[in-house]
Amino acid sequence: MRYLEIDTAKRISKIGLGTWQFGSREWGYGDAYAGSEAKAIVRRALDLGITLYDTAEIYGFGRSERILGQALGDDRDSVFLATKILPVMPIAPVVVQRGVASAERLGVKHLDLYQVHQPNPAVRDGTIMRGMRALQRTGLVGEVGVSNYSLRRWIAAQDALGSRVLSNQVKFSLAWRKPEQDLLPYAFSHNRVIIAYSPLAQGLLSGKYDQFNRPSNQVRAGNSMFLPENLERAAGLIAALREVADAHSATPAQVALAWLIRSSCVVAIPGASSVAQVESNAAAADIDLADDEYQALTAASDRFRPVTGLAAAPRLARARYGRGR
Ligand SMILES: NC(=O)c1ccc[n+]([C@@H]2O[C@H](COP(=O)([O-])OP(=O)(O)OC[C@H]3O[C@@H](n4cnc5c(N)ncnc54)[C@H](OP(=O)(O)O)[C@@H]3O)[C@@H](O)[C@H]2O)c1
Repeated sequence: MRYLEIDTAKRISKIGLGTWQFGSREWGYGDAYAGSEAKAIVRRALDLGITLYDTAEIYGFGRSERILGQALGDDRDSVFLATKILPVMPIAPVVVQRGVASAERLGVKHLDLYQVHQPNPAVRDGTIMRGMRALQRTGLVGEVGVSNYSLRRWIAAQDALGSRVLSNQVKFSLAWRKPEQDLLPYAFSHNRVIIAYSPLAQGLLSGKYDQFNRPSNQVRAGNSMFLPENLERAAGLIAALREVADAHSATPAQVALAWLIRSSCVVAIPGASSVAQVESNAAAADIDLADDEYQALTAASDRFRPVTGLAAAPRLARARYGRGR
């Protein structure tokens, strides 16, 4: 495993573990997963040197936090535990009460990173950051983070907090490179962290899905990347991943993660549906891509032009009702 080179109270592994999947109906992994596989994934992740664990109060309406806390057991205090608050009614007393509730579900007295899940469009960050400051003063929260924030709003949040907002958790992968525009240069030059979510584009970059074999769960049924047309368009990117993977005796998913975390300020938090996947993802931290491999993957990603946004909406509706594209 490799770790972020940044001054934090605990080490942060370059590959973390995302736990939206734990106990969330929308992933459809079922009771056996929530009841036992999730725990086995966490225990194996610990063995493999993963220290960064990401959850949120909204995942499974608290179930993810509970499952993660129980699975970590006595190791809870040695890892870098990150959770998130959904900023509904983000006034200070509510923020404090919700932070305490998350810590209780996780079974800890300290949250290493408390993140604002998404910007509240109607309430400025001064309000929520008053609550975050109070939580930091009591010692319940170590670092404050944000998620899905623009650069402008990240900086504004930091001004409002009056100290560093360590990280911005954003969608970032070879299939979605928007954070490269301004978030990455900012994080790089200011010693901040980009936490890449959906780093495998929810499994697309593993290469196991195509237009004839599409995942069926609710999360991916609503993700335009899995439209038959986009799966077809992704074939070139998957082929480039396979070529590099073959040279490293690795898999396309591992190479996709290695590409992401090559930037010194980026960590990735892939979710896992099995112990084998968390093993594979952890091993990706040790893959060194050569410059020409990195460039070939970037170029293949440049050529990938998925249908997204408004243009994808009618296609998503059609795909959902089984009429293909
Ligand atoms: N802040 C936010 O707004 C936000 C939004 C989304 C996610 N997140 C966080 O980011 C984490 C990760 O994002 P994500 O779950 O959306 O997407 P992801 O990590 O890109 O995809 C996870 C899925 O990919 C497949 N997979 C994982 N490892 C694999 C491997 N080695 N080989 C092949 N397939 C593999 C698994 O699905 P199958 O095996 O079923 O194919 C797994 O459930 C979440 O758990 C959550 O903590 C945050």
